[in-house]
Amino acid sequence: MRKIYSLLIVIFLFTTGCGGQSLRQEIEEKTEEGKMRVGFSQMENNSPWRIAETNSIKSEAEKRGIELIFMDAEGDVEKQINDIKYLIDQKVDYIILAPKLYEEFGEALRLAKEAKIPLILLDRKAKGEPGEDYLTLIASDFIWQGQQAANILVEAANEEAYIVELTGTEGSSAAIDRAKGFREIIDQYENMTIIASESAEFNRADGKRVMESIIRYREKKITAVYAHNDEMAIGAIQALKAAGMHPGQDVVIVSIDGEKDALKAIIANELYASIECNPFMGPVTFDVIERHQKGEEIAPHIVSEDRIYTIENAIRYVDSAY
Ligand code: AHR
Repeated sequence: MRKIYSLLIVIFLFTTGCGGQSLRQEIEEKTEEGKMRVGFSQMENNSPWRIAETNSIKSEAEKRGIELIFMDAEGDVEKQINDIKYLIDQKVDYIILAPKLYEEFGEALRLAKEAKIPLILLDRKAKGEPGEDYLTLIASDFIWQGQQAANILVEAANEEAYIVELTGTEGSSAAIDRAKGFREIIDQYENMTIIASESAEFNRADGKRVMESIIRYREKKITAVYAHNDEMAIGAIQALKAAGMHPGQDVVIVSIDGEKDALKAIIANELYASIECNPFMGPVTFDVIERHQKGEEIAPHIVSEDRIYTIENAIRYVDSAY
């Protein structure tokens, strides 16, 4: 609405024949006034994947001349809810929300809806109906990622493995769906056994710590690791090596994301494969906003295209990875 208003003023000023320096200044002021303002609530910004996602949103906003108000919840769900309330108070035109957990954002979605601010869920789901409680979800298909990880592991382990699963943050849609998709495949194989499943919070230090404790208390030999993201897989590799094991030889490891260190680990034959979770969602997010402004229909879930990284292609992508 503000944009149309600005445009009408510009047309009026030109058609009424006003000219000179003061006209240009007036136009610039009005255009600045009409600049779209978008709020971005990021759950945390402390890993290669999150930083890549944040930078993608920031640089795309800048490219399009959109003012971005960035809020980092630093991993704290309460703060993230308050961040959304702040963005609502700021009367931004759109809210982009990367929610840490699935269940906890009902009130925040309701408040944004009451304030008539369209809200886009980014990279993870939050409970609610697309088109009703929020505009759309732009994210990878986490179930598919879990299924791919399982298929790869089944093949690499010859249908027989004792698997340690390092899960992501409990209650996050990424952890819920990656566990679900994995089991949908693994459960079809009698000799593919999950011997331990523990959260390592999607981070490297916890991946190492949790893996160390599983190694210490294991009852069965560990022959495979499925990590819900690369950071935890790299932590697990460090723990396995410190315990005298040989990741890539006596333990097959598969994870998700496709970050630079994971591609390096594939090249070093320590990580078997990584299923991509593309963090570069800035362009598609702002395309959605522009299309929505024009009144176009927006699909309820816009799925990112993800590839699979293995020894076959890791070298090709490692330099450009984040
Ligand atoms: O929601 C996407 C996941 O969140 C990424 O796989 C992970 O690295 C991040 O923490």
